[in-house]
Amino acid sequence: GAAAPTGLNPVGGGGMLGLGLLGAGPLAGITPHQQQLLAAAQLAGGGVVDAGLAAQARLSKLNAAAPEVDSATLEKISEVAMQFFIERVPTDEQMREREAVCSKLHQAVVNEFPSARLQLFGSSGNNFCGKNSDLDLCLIVPEEVVYSDQGGGRGGNRRNMGRRETEKRRQQDRKKLMGKFVLRIADVMRRKGMEELTELPHARVPIVKFKTRDEQGHLVDCDVCINNYLACLNTELLFTYSHVDWRLRPMVYCVKHWIKQRQINDPYKGYLSSYTYTLMCIQFLQQCTPPVLPCLQEILRSEAVRRGDPMLRFRNTYDCYFYRDIERLKGFGNANTESIGVLLLKFFRFYAHFDKKKLVVCIRRGKPLTKKDKGWEKAMQRNRHVFCIEDPFDTDVDLGRNADENTVNDIQQEFERAFKMLSETGDLVKVMESYDTEREGAAPLPPKPADDADDHDHDHDHGPPTDEGETPPITPEGGEPPEQWATGSVEVDVPGVSLPADIQILDPSR
Ligand code: CTP
Ligand code: MG
Repeated sequence: GAAAPTGLNPVGGGGMLGLGLLGAGPLAGITPHQQQLLAAAQLAGGGVVDAGLAAQARLSKLNAAAPEVDSATLEKISEVAMQFFIERVPTDEQMREREAVCSKLHQAVVNEFPSARLQLFGSSGNNFCGKNSDLDLCLIVPEEVVYSDQGGGRGGNRRNMGRRETEKRRQQDRKKLMGKFVLRIADVMRRKGMEELTELPHARVPIVKFKTRDEQGHLVDCDVCINNYLACLNTELLFTYSHVDWRLRPMVYCVKHWIKQRQINDPYKGYLSSYTYTLMCIQFLQQCTPPVLPCLQEILRSEAVRRGDPMLRFRNTYDCYFYRDIERLKGFGNANTESIGVLLLKFFRFYAHFDKKKLVVCIRRGKPLTKKDKGWEKAMQRNRHVFCIEDPFDTDVDLGRNADENTVNDIQQEFERAFKMLSETGDLVKVMESYDTEREGAAPLPPKPADDADDHDHDHDHGPPTDEGETPPITPEGGEPPEQWATGSVEVDVPGVSLPADIQILDPSR
């Protein structure tokens, strides 16, 4: 029989996030929670947009919240932002095309590795994907398949090594075997006729990149990585946030376009990734008064502790708990009646004035933390800690680690420019104008001083670092949890919220 081997389940219980809804193909098998979310998303199609527009219409009279800008200007911003969002959300048909591509790829890998599953993550799975977004895919495969020939050759005499040395050697071995496994996946894809295939087995997160054609013959960019559980989980986290308040999506679509146009989105040039800017949007909406978004990682946390939710110690290391019951969070942001125009304006102002010398963006706690609390006051190895954004699950990771004084300066200047332009003219189109056009063919931004050269060579920023380099290795199983877990949790009382349904997250390592 084709029963899944024990212990193998994609993060989140299976299914292709955000796409599984479009048809019960071989990828079905999602949790009730996801089904609930996906049903809502499916209903949407244009529905989410319509709901957004209706809400927008109701709110447009309430723009007084940004007193320095007149309401006509604010309405203009809101209108353009919503229009922009509508134009960029993929159509149902385009989503179906994507699903078909995923199914095809899934089938190709499963034929070769029956115990594996392909899981969508990144923007195609988190509800923030544009019409041309790539497909970020993660192969979930039992560790023993990836590391099968471990120990061969290098086991050596470890008795004389210290614990640390043994661990380091183990990490190196695993890294090598992961690289080899990536090459095997690349082989499968090559045989299946994927185009422009590149394998990056030595990248921080090893991946295979290629293009494939959808049923219409359009080329789709695909990236496949292996067992990147945290990226799958943060995809779910963002997906859940996207359903709490309708204003997050249009905001993120505008911001993602703006960062690309203004060339402040390439982490390998010392800027920040789309993912990081999305977290910045969430943080901004969490700290508004009244808040537009809650802090999902804190809601009913003590309940989760009481019932020993396995997500609190995912893979024995990471605290990946977050509240998932969207139904009960509906209306959370209603006390805040600001329009998307006002929020965008305030977003630009918030980060233009962000006290980057003292603070760290932290959606895990729903408000900025201090650098002092994080121990991020000084540069450490490759972590520059100039502008800090904490990863919500891999909390030792500063997603701004590659940004330096110059690039952070560029970024903050862009925020200032956007705020100034928007408040003076309300011209969001002009705000999103490309950097090159504005300079009429002037040279693009100078590249960041390349002291992260190896990152540039073959890196691909798809997830928290796996096992080497600039950030500490994963705590060995059974090791002490990171300190921040001990600092306790803040209980957020959301009216009418009770215990979430049990979420099935299964870990292939167990
Ligand atoms: N990711 C991560 N850690 C990072 C960077 C990325 O975990 N430091 C994961 C996240 O799950 C993220 C996904 O990789 O959603 C892809 O991130 P990114 O390349 O920044 O882009 P998308 O969110 O996919 O946006 P786009 O539509 O621009 O492709
Ligand atoms: Mg992507």
